[in-house]
Amino acid sequence: MWAAPEMDRHPDFDKTKVALTPRRHETWNGFLYVNLDGRAVPLADRLAAVTPRLAAYQLDRWVTARSIDCGEYPWDWKVMQDNGECYHHLGLHTETFEVDYPGRWSETFENDGDFTLLWSPSRPERQTIGADCQRYVPGLAFLPQPGLDERQRTCFQLLYVLPNFFIYLQPDLVMNMRVFPVAAGRIRLIADMVVRPESRAMPDFAERLERVVAFFHRFNEEDVVANAAIQRNLALADAVGGPLSHLEHHNRHVALWVVRRLTGAA
Ligand SMILES: [Fe+2]
Repeated sequence: MWAAPEMDRHPDFDKTKVALTPRRHETWNGFLYVNLDGRAVPLADRLAAVTPRLAAYQLDRWVTARSIDCGEYPWDWKVMQDNGECYHHLGLHTETFEVDYPGRWSETFENDGDFTLLWSPSRPERQTIGADCQRYVPGLAFLPQPGLDERQRTCFQLLYVLPNFFIYLQPDLVMNMRVFPVAAGRIRLIADMVVRPESRAMPDFAERLERVVAFFHRFNEEDVVANAAIQRNLALADAVGGPLSHLEHHNRHVALWVVRRLTGAA
């Protein structure tokens, strides 16, 4: 292994003093969170209210099957967050999500802190009957996690940890949307397709994964059009806000979170 060859002959060279800088980090459900300035509130405390709701998935066992680097997009991280409710299934995803997950049925578990959890129930007539004779989400692609409750089996869930962590979660699949702010009005998106390790042994796993990836590209292209337009409109001199739907609790939560961070208000 290369480590500053020949520097052992330097009288003042001390490897421990030129090593990478240690950073505070915590793991949560298999995800590694790094705190660069070391001043963040401990993550476990911030997520205490949601952690039990995800425990049954045993996400720390799941593995990444594919990472899709979507490159840069012309909108900022908050526009990405504002796209996070399921209300927009009704207008934007009529050919994709709305077919299986009616936007009007979505619900939000809110809190006063750093996350929101949404779930989007599926149409019963579109659900999959699993090998255990239980009902699951439509188009189950891989092996579902055993031991989930009915909501976890038949809904997809969206977990947001502000400002920019979010995962799409269903019984057999997680899409981990990694959003990197690049500059004002620009992000880079990398989407990880995460599955239970047992699923990788399915004989047609590769074909199933390709179908999931194709679906990701399909709905992502629908979102691209809307997010780019919203960013453009936000830049207009006469841009104004409007009232939120009762299905947009997530957007209200994100807006209040930003105001609190900027003003220090309670
Ligand atoms: Fe969307």
